[in-house]
Amino acid sequence: MKVLLLNGSPHKNGCTYTALNEVAKSLNLEAIETEIFYVGTDPITPCKDCRACSQIGKCVINDKVNEFLEKAETSDGFVFGSPVHYASASGIIVPFLDRVFYADALSGKQRFRLKPGATVISARRAGTTATLDQINICLYRKCLLLLLGIGIWFMDGCPKM
Ligand SMILES: Cc1cc2nc3c(=O)[nH]c(=O)nc-3n(C[C@H](O)[C@H](O)[C@H](O)COP(=O)(O)O)c2cc1C
Repeated sequence: MKVLLLNGSPHKNGCTYTALNEVAKSLNLEAIETEIFYVGTDPITPCKDCRACSQIGKCVINDKVNEFLEKAETSDGFVFGSPVHYASASGIIVPFLDRVFYADALSGKQRFRLKPGATVISARRAGTTATLDQINICLYRKCLLLLLGIGIWFMDGCPKM
């Protein structure tokens, strides 16, 4: 069993990483394999809504999004991590997750379906609740689109909609 943890901070080994690493250590104690996926500092192009993913099964822009989608296929659970940047998620994680979930939804590959997921937010002062909602909204959207869900969000969000 493997859990993929996404570090959506520009800092490879910063506070978001440190929090994700604590989660990973706890999972490892339960003999669950973990991998922390660093989103990096290169710009992530926003989703163009070209819908090529429905034909090719992945995003037409071949960058870290496709690397993540490939790893997601063989992962059994997910933790999404982001720092708070001015009361919202980091500028890089938003287009990253838009493209991950849109490509997954339109390709019909169901890499996340019924797999458990959680979110970790790191901040100095305020904006954590807004950021948590922002990251989780990506997952609600997926629920609405496919009428399927992913773990916690499916159980929490979809039945109410
Ligand atoms: C551009 C920018 C904006 C930030 N805005 C906020 C904010 O609105 N609220 C807050 O509490 N912290 C804010 N911070 C601080 C980071 O959220 C905090 O230091 C976080 O732990 C950094 O995590 P990291 O080391 O993984 O990047 C901001 C940091 C940056 C770089």
